[in-house]
Amino acid sequence: MNESAQTPDRTSEDRTWWKEAVVYQIYPKSFNDSDGDGVGDIQGIIDRVDHLDDLGIDVVWLSPVYASPHADNGYDISDYRAIDDRFGDMSDWERLRDELHARDIKVVMDLVVNHTSDEHEWFEKSRRREDGYEDYYYWRDPAEDGGPPNNWESFFGGQTWSWDEERQQYYLHLFDEKQPDLNWENPQVREDVYEMMNWWLEKGVDGFRMDVINLISKTRGLPDGEEGDWQTGVEHFMNGPRIHEFLQEMYDEVLAGRDVMTVGEMPGVDIEEAKQYTGADGDGLGMIFTFEHMNLDHDGGRWDLHEDYEAWDLRDLKEFVGRWQRGLAEEGWNSNYLGNHDQPRIVSRFGDDGQYRVESAKLLGTFLLTLSGTPYVYQGDEIGMTNVDWQHLGEVVDVDTINHVELLMAEHDIDDYQELRGFVNARSRDNARTPVQWDDSDSAGFTDGKPWLKVNDNYTEINVAADRTADDSVFEYYRDLVDLRNERDVFVYGEFEMFLPDHEHVFAFTQSLDDERVLVVLNFSDEPRTVDLGESDGRLLVSNYDDPATDLPTLTLAPFEATVFEV
Ligand code: NOJ
Repeated sequence: MNESAQTPDRTSEDRTWWKEAVVYQIYPKSFNDSDGDGVGDIQGIIDRVDHLDDLGIDVVWLSPVYASPHADNGYDISDYRAIDDRFGDMSDWERLRDELHARDIKVVMDLVVNHTSDEHEWFEKSRRREDGYEDYYYWRDPAEDGGPPNNWESFFGGQTWSWDEERQQYYLHLFDEKQPDLNWENPQVREDVYEMMNWWLEKGVDGFRMDVINLISKTRGLPDGEEGDWQTGVEHFMNGPRIHEFLQEMYDEVLAGRDVMTVGEMPGVDIEEAKQYTGADGDGLGMIFTFEHMNLDHDGGRWDLHEDYEAWDLRDLKEFVGRWQRGLAEEGWNSNYLGNHDQPRIVSRFGDDGQYRVESAKLLGTFLLTLSGTPYVYQGDEIGMTNVDWQHLGEVVDVDTINHVELLMAEHDIDDYQELRGFVNARSRDNARTPVQWDDSDSAGFTDGKPWLKVNDNYTEINVAADRTADDSVFEYYRDLVDLRNERDVFVYGEFEMFLPDHEHVFAFTQSLDDERVLVVLNFSDEPRTVDLGESDGRLLVSNYDDPATDLPTLTLAPFEATVFEV
């Protein structure tokens, strides 16, 4: 049989670099500070580029570095074409681009265009009703009772409308009041966004991660939402009526004919919708971030206070993964992630950040890097960084956490933050935003100054320098997995098959491509587990234990043991 007859279409015709890439997300504020002001910066990233190169990653997704008042750490942009002073300037950014490109690492920028900062020039002109800018945002008069124009709820808790004294109208913000939503109905807004995207592409960026991009179209007339279990109004701003039209237009105006990576962050999207965004007849996006698995430990209401807020069921994760792996096998493309700057640390949430921290960090790495699709590694996960104990609310910076804690205290009549401390420790986005722990010196080698957010107390033990010299290094394990993935297409393009779907603790699956087949077996629990996999023969490729379970078909796996076989 010749090569092309052997290879399924999607590998031969649809092969692209971003499908085969391992993406590493940098949250610049917390990555590395070069000038001692306590805030990470671009020079700090440049100083650590070899860390990325050693890990073997192919793409850096840079969370926003644009000029911003940082009401939401840069997701509130005041100038899309300038670098924030905290992070450096455009020449620093250009040097970073060149340093990454020199190492064959691509750079993907965060595109935040559902909203701007209220300090963006467009908003300032709009609130003054300057010619041509009146309708750049959603401005409305009060409802008849003088209150906000509708009942939509903000992602950060509370209402989505704020009153502007200058314009004497309300403006819409699905996030913080300092993040007014752009009015995508206005063709001039769209044109300005496309022009800015083209400008960045001309500067050599290799793609975009598109912030909450499925929120940009709102139901005309902005009607009230149904009050129910979830955030009120979502049916009017998630996957809204003109979303596909807008994204297709963006494709035509910006992306067509360019070899770039795009990933749309899309809360509330199912597989069929994912295909409309990324499939053959879709809108031209490469992939999306789904949120289904981020709801495993709650029902969508992340801050709904309930008992057992840390509990989740591995069978639900399997059901989700199996469905998405199969669902996008022929059309569209999966992006695989377990955490990012908006989620708690993966080892604390899905693994064990105590006795089995190292083993479970490696197990989660195995999971991410052996599924088909593009894997995303969030900074610090490659050394198994953990959640933090937020002793009092004054230590927290994240607007989402602070707002929700205040709302919970009011709603449940709680006077003392200590009653919510455990819940905040499990949920807060700041868990993932503490400075990267580079070594055991003061402030974990992140800064010579006072870090903008506290460093996790465990930095003297958990840090890059210690990990990289340890016999059981998580970093080295990740690197080996990245190498293996680069060597074998089966991990990228393989066809997924689930084993033992009802097992409560062990996640096992195969990936097959042509005549290659690999079996991945993961014990997601802190006890030994014995499973019969029905596969009698296999050559061990990877294990996170020195004395791995290899006696197929019956394996007795140690706590958080991860094993990959060629079968
Ligand atoms: C999603 C981003 O990931 C998050 O950090 C941000 O707060 C919101 N979008 C608003 O931009």
